[in-house]
Amino acid sequence: MSDYWIPADDLGLRDRVAIIAGGGAAGDGIGNGRASAILLARAGARVLVADREVTLAERTAEMIAAHGGTAAAHAADVTDGESCQAMVETALDRFGRVDFLVNNVGISSRRSVVDEEQAEFQRVMRINVEGMFLAAKHAIPAMRETAGGGAIVNIASIAALRPRGATAYSASKGAVIALTRAMAVDHGLDGIRVNCIAPGPVYTPMVIRGGMHPEARERRRRASVMGREGSGWDVGNAVRFLLSDHARYITGHTLVVDGGTTLIGPARHYR
Ligand SMILES: NC(=O)c1ccc[n+]([C@@H]2O[C@H](COP(=O)([O-])OP(=O)(O)OC[C@H]3O[C@@H](n4cnc5c(N)ncnc54)[C@H](O)[C@@H]3O)[C@@H](O)[C@H]2O)c1
Repeated sequence: MSDYWIPADDLGLRDRVAIIAGGGAAGDGIGNGRASAILLARAGARVLVADREVTLAERTAEMIAAHGGTAAAHAADVTDGESCQAMVETALDRFGRVDFLVNNVGISSRRSVVDEEQAEFQRVMRINVEGMFLAAKHAIPAMRETAGGGAIVNIASIAALRPRGATAYSASKGAVIALTRAMAVDHGLDGIRVNCIAPGPVYTPMVIRGGMHPEARERRRRASVMGREGSGWDVGNAVRFLLSDHARYITGHTLVVDGGTTLIGPARHYR
């Protein structure tokens, strides 16, 4: 069969190794990172679940093990280069190679440029952008050396494409898209594809923790042309597709996962 034949039921992920930065989630909630980790493991990948709060990563690893998958939990802070290096070394020690990185860490902020404190702007950029830069900086050499290539997915947001204010967050996610495209150019010849996902309104522990009112949740649901909110699983499925062999000719792309929210006019939710 030709090189173009990739069986529909084989994503090409079996025994490959993924690092999920920000792969924890509060309680038993399904965040974008946790869903990605579980879905990759279900397809046979071995997963290092890294999180600043290791107990959250441990819960994800337990959920994977409960279904017969292979995962390890690891404490890492992606804003610290040495911690990112240790995260990659742990993946190599545990599993012998690194094929994939999912950069899921992100925090939100809602203020305007006038109201936002400079220190808070810097904190958001540091966690949301510099964290992805540092994780990739340390993962890419390991991918080249141990797997001869690989793939990265960075989690952006539709806030980069259709901002509703929230200056620091929107700016950080715009930077994630530009970072993704630049990395795709730099590392295409290394056999490393780099894509990002722009989730829309998905109801995850991050949103719950942010204290979303029921009315705001209802507005988010109605903002989708499908009249429904998404979940971490919707983002996880997109991550798994972009890392799989089925996406082998896709790089530098921003995949919008928003139930059509960006197709219709913006609404300010925060004032
Ligand atoms: N939920 C939504 O509606 C939505 C929409 C668009 C984009 N996103 C993006 O999705 C991503 C997160 O989604 P989620 O639902 O998995 O969130 P989450 O909060 O459930 O998971 C993020 C994890 O990152 C960890 N983390 C935070 N700072 C860290 C650091 N410095 N180093 C290591 N780990 C750190 C947290 O402990 C947490 O477990 C973010 O990038 C967010 O901007 C979410």
